[in-house]
Amino acid sequence: MAKKRVVVLASGSGSNFQSIINFAQNGASFEIVGLIVNVPEVKAIERAKTANIPSKLVNHKDYATRTDFETALNQALLDFNAELVVCAGFMRILQAEFVEKWEGKMINIHPSLLPKYKGLHTHQRAIDAGDKTAGCTVHFVNAGVDEGAIIGQAEVEIMDGDDADKLASRVIIKEHILYPLCVDAVASGKIILTNGACLNDGKLEMIKI
Ligand code: GAR
Repeated sequence: MAKKRVVVLASGSGSNFQSIINFAQNGASFEIVGLIVNVPEVKAIERAKTANIPSKLVNHKDYATRTDFETALNQALLDFNAELVVCAGFMRILQAEFVEKWEGKMINIHPSLLPKYKGLHTHQRAIDAGDKTAGCTVHFVNAGVDEGAIIGQAEVEIMDGDDADKLASRVIIKEHILYPLCVDAVASGKIILTNGACLNDGKLEMIKI
């Protein structure tokens, strides 16, 4: 079967992007055909160059409205012939009209055990709440923020003396394992979105690592 054409969206360091690049080099069911960033000169661009992946800047600051930005973003995805859109530290909220165009074909990683702690400062909020565990979640993107059907999760224990940075440094290690597995499962068709639910080989079972 032809490899699925993956385009990654990133806003920063792109360490998750790197983990997906590494995975793709070992017989995955997808190839990364492009990187789109919304912030100039981020490290993700360097990673793309090193891996010979074309990158494109679509800077939200260059557009008068969210809709104009999303029109340009959509065009960039079409120009890459994207079949699967992978948000990897992409820090823009996308409106329903854009998201609906990519329904079932756009996924995101979020640094919490969703549905807990949507939005920002997830690790600090988990520590402040006295939670025993934190982690990360990969999900299909829908019109709600951090709300789409869950594809996979990884849990990390919160230890005495943890601060947000220490916890984040352990969670990101799990992100780098979980995300490529989830990208591959969606790219191969093992995991699909149907009627708002994520089916894994026809069952309501998320990937857990
Ligand atoms: C990751 O921890 C990812 O889960 C988070 O941003 C970081 C990006 O790191 N994403 C979000 O908070 C999305 N709401 P990276 O650029 O090194 O992959």
